[in-house]
Amino acid sequence: MSRIAYVSGRFVPQREAVVPIEDRGYQFADGVYEVAAVHRGRLIDLRPHLDRLARSLRELDIVAPVTERVLIHILERIVRLNRIAEGSVYLQITRGVAPRDHAFPTRARPQLVVTAKRSRRPDPAVWETGIRVITIPEQRWARRDVKSVSLLPNVLGKQRAREAGAYEAWQVDPDGTVTEGTSSNAWIVNRDGELVTPPPSPRILNGVTRLVLLGLARRAGLTVVERHFSLAEALEAREALLSSTTSMVLPVTQIDDRVIANGRPGEIATTLRDLLAAHFDAPRA
Ligand code: PDD
Repeated sequence: MSRIAYVSGRFVPQREAVVPIEDRGYQFADGVYEVAAVHRGRLIDLRPHLDRLARSLRELDIVAPVTERVLIHILERIVRLNRIAEGSVYLQITRGVAPRDHAFPTRARPQLVVTAKRSRRPDPAVWETGIRVITIPEQRWARRDVKSVSLLPNVLGKQRAREAGAYEAWQVDPDGTVTEGTSSNAWIVNRDGELVTPPPSPRILNGVTRLVLLGLARRAGLTVVERHFSLAEALEAREALLSSTTSMVLPVTQIDDRVIANGRPGEIATTLRDLLAAHFDAPRA
């Protein structure tokens, strides 16, 4: 079955879907995006994704091209048209199409693109050994809280991870603080058994999975602390983990060449995995 995409007002076969070369997303990475999971044909945690999208648009002074109601309708239709049971939707809004000039165009209309794809949830086999992350210097801009399509440092970081045979790269600020992965948030369980993840700030993207896990962990009675942790602390941690829409939650058992604790996926990571799976399965209004 050929995939269907939504491009600024039209549902079209994805292989025929194109954007003009003067789209500011193409020329300046002047746009924002969201990725939401689809499970059993339903969009998961759409509310926080839409809230974060609205925030990203506001921070960049881009006007939403459609109302939220229309956007939800488009997203649901793309899921249906592509017959996605398990996978994700991708949506991107750019400032629009205009002759190339750095300053905002006065007349451009923001452009919306939506696509969907099938994908499996992470292979349960990763829970036997856990995953490895490498560390790289943090080289991104100072507004990582905005989910901008400007992802070059993330792309380069993920490529380095891939070449190193690792799953992800954790970015480390010059002061030794771990910020986040190139497409995921970072967590540890420290020596006191506290679940630690950086607080929302311009230094990280406030992941929807991160927010959901924080709620689930608190409700399950785990001790959760939102604060920064250093790479040195992570290396000494009882557990390390990462979270994202597509990876859900995964146990990190090796950071660079250092094995974390006993090198096995930990108890809290496993608990969070089960809580998140139940959350995905929960009936929704
Ligand atoms: N990653 N940090 C960065 C830099 C990201 O790109 C992402 C999302 C996250 C996690 O956010 P969320 O939980 O909302 O997915 C953190 C893409 C969308 C992904 O791999 O799912």
